[in-house]
Amino acid sequence: MPTIQPARQDSLTVAPAAASAGTRTLALDIGGTGLKALLLGPDGAALTERLRVPTPRPATPEALLHAIWHLIEPLGEFDRISVGFPGVVVDGVTKTAPNLHELWQGFDLGKALAEGSRRPVRVLNDAGVQGYGVIEGKGLEMVLTLGTGLGCGLYLDGKYVPNLELAHHPFRHGKTYEEYVGAKALKAVGKKKWNKRVERVIEQVLPIWNPRRLYLGGGNAKHVKLELPDNVKLTPNIAGLLGGIALWHDVVDVAKAVDAPDNAR
Ligand code: BGC
Repeated sequence: MPTIQPARQDSLTVAPAAASAGTRTLALDIGGTGLKALLLGPDGAALTERLRVPTPRPATPEALLHAIWHLIEPLGEFDRISVGFPGVVVDGVTKTAPNLHELWQGFDLGKALAEGSRRPVRVLNDAGVQGYGVIEGKGLEMVLTLGTGLGCGLYLDGKYVPNLELAHHPFRHGKTYEEYVGAKALKAVGKKKWNKRVERVIEQVLPIWNPRRLYLGGGNAKHVKLELPDNVKLTPNIAGLLGGIALWHDVVDVAKAVDAPDNAR
């Protein structure tokens, strides 16, 4: 079973041109606030800087696809695509997208990207991909991403348990986890109270799931100023892209590939 190396830093080490031969993976991280993209080399190292544009509003499939094609233009050639999507994904089809648009219910994102790029595509929940950028691949590991929404990923010996939507489970005072610590809550209550809330979430989650490690990621993890238990780690948001390489490892059989159309190069 491959060990997935954690991403240790927020700033990227971009591989030199000489190291960039071989399969190139376009990694896409679709977020409620930003769309991010970079190219990864065969070993998962970043070959380019990360590009980012704001998520278009309304965030319909059509608007996002348009923005994605535009965003990735400067990145150049690639052989396959890995996508992190902020909702439930089954076999490349998006089932929910609480922070995007209702038109994502039942949208075949894998197919749309494979047809548009003529490359094979694998799509997974965004927190699922993020976790693959940080886990060690040993025992039970969990990731919570603090961003527009609350992402959640669970892994057993490096194998992802898909679509665990803790975000929308009731938590406290009539609020779901996402309503309690999502980006709207951070804006509404401020960093100090929000940190207290994140602490309560951690205290709730640890004794229920008993992960060996709990990783905190997502764009708002940088605002976490807590003394964390030994097995809780803050991780950089770039993992949401770097984790994309793992979707092509055998162990990740939940991100079923959507093949490129027959006439692909
Ligand atoms: C969605 C999750 C997603 C998270 C972070 C939640 O609202 O339900 O699927 O992982 O936001 O984007």
